[in-house]
Amino acid sequence: MKVLILGIDGYIGFPLALRLLDRGYEVAGADNFYTRNRVRKVGSKSAIKINSFSTRNKKLNNAIQFYRGDVSNSKFVYDIIRDSKPDAIVHLAEQRSAPYSMISLKTAIETLDKNIESTMNIIYAVKDLNKDIHIVKLGSMGEYGTPNIDIPEGFLNVSYNGRSDNLPFPRMGQSWYHLSKIFDTYSLMLAERIWNMNVSDVMQGVVYGTRTPEISKYKLFTRFDIDQVYGTVLNRFISQAVIGYPLTVYGKGNQKRAFLSLEDSVECLNLIIDHPPEREYRVYNQFDEYYPLNYLAETVKNQYKSLYNRDIGIDHVQNPRVEMEDHYYNPVNENLRKIGYKRQRSLDDEVPVMIRDVRRNMNTVYSLKNVIKPATNWR
Ligand SMILES: NC(=O)c1ccc[n+]([C@@H]2O[C@H](COP(=O)([O-])OP(=O)(O)OC[C@H]3O[C@@H](n4cnc5c(N)ncnc54)[C@H](O)[C@@H]3O)[C@@H](O)[C@H]2O)c1
Repeated sequence: MKVLILGIDGYIGFPLALRLLDRGYEVAGADNFYTRNRVRKVGSKSAIKINSFSTRNKKLNNAIQFYRGDVSNSKFVYDIIRDSKPDAIVHLAEQRSAPYSMISLKTAIETLDKNIESTMNIIYAVKDLNKDIHIVKLGSMGEYGTPNIDIPEGFLNVSYNGRSDNLPFPRMGQSWYHLSKIFDTYSLMLAERIWNMNVSDVMQGVVYGTRTPEISKYKLFTRFDIDQVYGTVLNRFISQAVIGYPLTVYGKGNQKRAFLSLEDSVECLNLIIDHPPEREYRVYNQFDEYYPLNYLAETVKNQYKSLYNRDIGIDHVQNPRVEMEDHYYNPVNENLRKIGYKRQRSLDDEVPVMIRDVRRNMNTVYSLKNVIKPATNWR
C-alpha cells in the first residue's frame, strides 16, 4: 500500500513515516517546513535537536518520495497526488497551534485560510483524480469543547418534539484553530455525502512523548516544542522540571483533556490506514485517557522526585485562555477499539523517557526558558 503523508516533517508525520516504512508500506510525503518557520518566528526551536528533512531522508536511503510545497496551493496538491498515486492520504499539514491562532487578526486569518484551503484542496483533488483514495484527516478533540454531557464519536441521537435523528454532535471549539478544524470536519462530511468518498476524520487528543521504537532504531528524533505557542502542556511541564523551574499550571488546573502517547498516535493512524471506510464518513475519537492538568503536573513532579530526588514546585498562573476550569468531561473512543486499538504506552511509562530525553538537551531547554511562560492571551 502507498501512503502520502502531508506534513511529513512534523512531530507526528515523521514518526508515522518511519513506522510505515519499517512495516513495508511505500511512503510519499509533502511539507513546506511551515512549523519550523513559525516556531522560529515565535523565538523558539525544537528543544530536542532534529535533522533537516533532507538529512533525515538521506539516513533512510531516500526511501521517502518527498515533495516540498504548500498544501494550501491547489496546483501543488493535484500535482503530487497525480504523481505519487497513493492509496491513502494522511493530512497533518495544518497550522496546529491554538495559541498561534489567537495572537492577532493576522494569525487568526492565516490559520483559518491555510487550514480550510488545504483540506478543500485535498477533497477536490481526490474527487477529481481518484475517489478510491482514503482520506485520513487529523482533527482535534478540542472541536467538541467541554459540554456537560458525554462526548460520542461525531454523531448524537437526538429526540426533539417527538421526532429523532442521528445528528452531528455540536462543536464548541475554543480558538480560531479549533474553528478551522470544525470547518474541515463539516467539509469532509459534506464531501462524503455528495461524492461518496472514503473519509476517516480523527478527533485527536493531546499527544505527548519523544520516542517510538523506530525513532530509537534509526536514531532520528522528531521535533519537540516547549514554547508557550507551539509546546503542548506535558512538554512544557517536563521542560520546566528539567531546568528546575516550577510547573506553570493555567488557572485552577481542573481542566480535563484527552491525551495519548506519540507511540499510540502513530499506531492508531496505522490501524486507521489499514481499515478504510467504504464510501463512508467515519469519526474516530483518538485518545487513550483523560485527566485534569493538575494530575499531569503531579505526575511529572512525582516522577522527577523518584528519578532525581529533587522537589519541583507547581505554580497556578493566571489562565491566558478563556475556558471552563471546573467541568464534566467524558468522551468515548469505541471506534478505535473496534479496529483493534490497545494502549501501547501509558503516561507513567512515557514521562521518565521524556524526562531523560529532555535532560540530554538541557542547554537548549535552558536557552528557551523565557518562551515557555504564557504570553498569548485569549482576552
Ligand atoms: N500534536 C498534538 O498534540 C495534536 C493534537 C490534536 C491534533 N493534532 C493535529 O495533528 C496534525 C499534526 O500535528 P503535529 O503535532 O505533528 O504538528 P506539526 O506542526 O509538528 O506538523 C505539521 C507538519 O505540517 C507541515 N505543514 C503545515 N502547514 C503546511 C502546508 N500548508 N503545506 C505543507 N506543509 C505544511 C508543517 O511544516 C509540519 O511539518 C495537525 O493537523 C494537528 O492540528 C495534533
